[in-house]
Amino acid sequence: MIELTEVTKTFPGTAKPAVDRLTLRIAEGEVVVLVGPSGCGKTTTLKMINRLIEPSGGTITVDGRDVLGLQAHELRRGIGYVIQQIGLFPHKTIGDNIATVPNLLGWDKGRTRARVEELVDLVELPVEMLDRYPGELSGGQRQRVGVARALAADPPVLLMDEPFGAVDPIVRANLQDELLSLQSQLRKTIVLVTHDIDEAIKLGDRVAILSEGGHLEQYAPPSQILSDPANPFVADFLGSDRGIKRLSLIPISAIQLDPGPVLPRQATKGEAVEMMARYGIDWAAIGQGNELEGWFTADDLAGHDTLENINTRDYQVRLSPEDSLREALDAVITSHTAVAAVFDGNRYLGMATVDEISREIVQ
Ligand SMILES: Nc1ncnc2c1ncn2[C@@H]1O[C@H](COP(=O)(O)OP(=O)(O)OP(=O)(O)O)[C@@H](O)[C@H]1O
Ligand SMILES: [Mg+2]
Repeated sequence: MIELTEVTKTFPGTAKPAVDRLTLRIAEGEVVVLVGPSGCGKTTTLKMINRLIEPSGGTITVDGRDVLGLQAHELRRGIGYVIQQIGLFPHKTIGDNIATVPNLLGWDKGRTRARVEELVDLVELPVEMLDRYPGELSGGQRQRVGVARALAADPPVLLMDEPFGAVDPIVRANLQDELLSLQSQLRKTIVLVTHDIDEAIKLGDRVAILSEGGHLEQYAPPSQILSDPANPFVADFLGSDRGIKRLSLIPISAIQLDPGPVLPRQATKGEAVEMMARYGIDWAAIGQGNELEGWFTADDLAGHDTLENINTRDYQVRLSPEDSLREALDAVITSHTAVAAVFDGNRYLGMATVDEISREIVQ
């Protein structure tokens, strides 16, 4: 869908090119994330694709057409752009901001209004907001307006420069999830820039790791980059917790679950003590097959010969098979339980253990 071949940009009055002979191919319908340290040429690369910056050399094609041969406005019609720092027009209402491209294209009022309402719905903002001004929205809401504006003319290609840069981590995670769910409906070709490697791993079908001068250090799916970094620059950029990061890409369903320290109601105190010893923990659970009632501690056994009349407690953290191994590890570490219970709805499936999780890290 997008092909950059030996693309170079040297800004006037600078000695070294900001982007030096970058070659990159982006397939239709995929999300490619450009990531790298500040100043490495990410924004410059993005802006060359829609010609907000003119390349000094090389060729760029979008959907088989040479972008240098197209009128800039014609090109941008097919490319939505979310700029770094959002860049909403402060004196225009939210509705008019979103309608920027439809207005440029001369759509009639009715069609534009209908499209704008469809978009606020898509990015999950209330319609009342359309008459407000950007200054009256939170940072996260403004980011969504930026995304809605870029989608207005339904372009097949979306360029997003740090689209979630200005918000706190929780809002950021929500916006990332929304983008993923939007993308599963819309199947756009998306080039997204970030300097946050975790965001790149979460959002990218493929991740391009760039170093200064737009030099492509590695271009591969996130799991491959994490398991097999191409060189020391990439390994260093990924950080020392590369193994743990990789866990976020693997679902719990990929590992063997342990039956867990689970006993039936009829079990004796002795059997419970033995079970706790076997797992090296001071608690056990009561249940049978796919039914799990809850857990109790060694102290709860005082005065009981069997588990018949033991009161159980509910699991605070209930994982499901689609959750990631990173979440499983987090649950194990924070709950002091050494294992984390996994359920499919109400069906108990087993326990994720540190041993099984770390087997995946080592692989
Ligand atoms: N108009 C310009 N004139 C001269 N140099 C420029 C211009 N725009 C960018 N540069 C330089 O080009 C290099 C790449 O800039 P670019 O904005 O692409 O970086 P970036 O990877 O997007 O960084 P950040 O993560 O900080 O946004 C930088 O060294 C920058 O100073
Ligand atoms: Mg930038």
